[in-house]
Amino acid sequence: MTKMVSELHWPSMSHAEFARRRRAVMERIGPQAVAIVPAAPQRLRNHDVHYPYRQDGDFRYLTGFPEPEAVAVLAPGRAGGEYILFCRDRDPEREIWDGRRAGQEGAQREYGADQALSIGRLDEVMPRLLDGRERVYHTLGQQSWLDQKLIGWLKSLRGQSRRGVHAPPEVISLDPVLHEMRLFKSESEIALMQQAASVSAAAHRRAMRTARPGVYEYQIAAEIHHEYERNGLTWAYGTIVGSGANACILHYVENSAVLKDGELLLIDAGGEWQGYCADITRSFPVNGRYSGPQKALYEVVLAAQLAAIEKCRVGQHWNAPHEAAVRVLTEGLVALGLLQGEVQALVEKEAYKRFYMHSTGHWLGMDVHDVGAYKIGGEWRRFEPGMVLTVEPGLYVTPAEDVDESYWNIGIRIEDDVLITAGEPRILTHEAPKQIADVEALMRSGPLPLDGGG
Ligand code: GLY
Ligand code: MN
Ligand code: MN
Repeated sequence: MTKMVSELHWPSMSHAEFARRRRAVMERIGPQAVAIVPAAPQRLRNHDVHYPYRQDGDFRYLTGFPEPEAVAVLAPGRAGGEYILFCRDRDPEREIWDGRRAGQEGAQREYGADQALSIGRLDEVMPRLLDGRERVYHTLGQQSWLDQKLIGWLKSLRGQSRRGVHAPPEVISLDPVLHEMRLFKSESEIALMQQAASVSAAAHRRAMRTARPGVYEYQIAAEIHHEYERNGLTWAYGTIVGSGANACILHYVENSAVLKDGELLLIDAGGEWQGYCADITRSFPVNGRYSGPQKALYEVVLAAQLAAIEKCRVGQHWNAPHEAAVRVLTEGLVALGLLQGEVQALVEKEAYKRFYMHSTGHWLGMDVHDVGAYKIGGEWRRFEPGMVLTVEPGLYVTPAEDVDESYWNIGIRIEDDVLITAGEPRILTHEAPKQIADVEALMRSGPLPLDGGG
């Protein structure tokens, strides 16, 4: 079999980077501590059918290990090896049915574990790894089976104190340590995110060229997923294809309606490449030309988005893009007669919330709503190079007596993924057109047949 193009040409994470991350965690937690990080469990969909497996972000970040039923332990300074990976045993019979397993040998050879042990030996070995340490870094409340086991191990160690056994007195969440690291993306992480963004942008362009009256929302979703999968991506979250009034439902995922002439179509879709996500929204006319009212609202949202992106700079705080977006949206709503009053007072009263009820972004990385603190010491944190966030203002106008009917059922969101740099904000998703003239020109250049190439 020939090697996949993706493996040959596209960026991927080196083993050295995983080793650097583990080293950084161990330096932060110190020699008196042990960290425990479990793989995501497999989840049953029905009977003996599982949901597609997705590895836990924290576990993947530290290990790169793709299998379920695994637990990583970091024990700084341990003579027998600092990185211990408990994992499934090789099983030729099961592997014929369920796929290959690394086994303990593979865990050491391919994934850099200092020591690999059967997952079946957790209860036997873990108390020894905990003995004599002062702190256990383990995020409680995520996998109750492991919480219960840890309690059991600590209890059994405490019961042996007369024999000189020392149970760690503290259990601490690993989240603040790990999530602060995950918030800052390395060059190789940015390369993966760029790939996710570029393919996702191509998927949006494909959707723009396929959409026309009479096509179903799910057929547009299929075009998007086709673009992901032909490039080796999967979806980062459930694809939203909402036409007409459906665009005003923020998490609309039925994708079942037929596109109608004169409606606007909102697509929020992003792919995941090697564990890293893109998150893009575009809103465009089904028939290829924005109507007057659609254009008026769209220009407000676009101006708000550009104003927000302008705030994505070192030194600005997390909420500055939102504040900028809210001001421009409110000004636009007043200019169009959708809100009445003085802009500053309306902003303070949050009058815009009727038409703009969500926030302007979130961290983006291995999770679409990525980890990382938004506040430090009760204050919005400041942007620093290497952070990636979304910028996604919108306006959603549901029918109401006091709203001009020409705006009813128009839902618009424009969402890009932005990397904070030492200089200009870098828009990873710039290949998805958003200027009205560019969107209309691309739609004119189609249409792609529904089952077409591209
Ligand atoms: N697609 C999820 C979000 O925009 O937050
Ligand atoms: Mn988003
Ligand atoms: Mn989104």
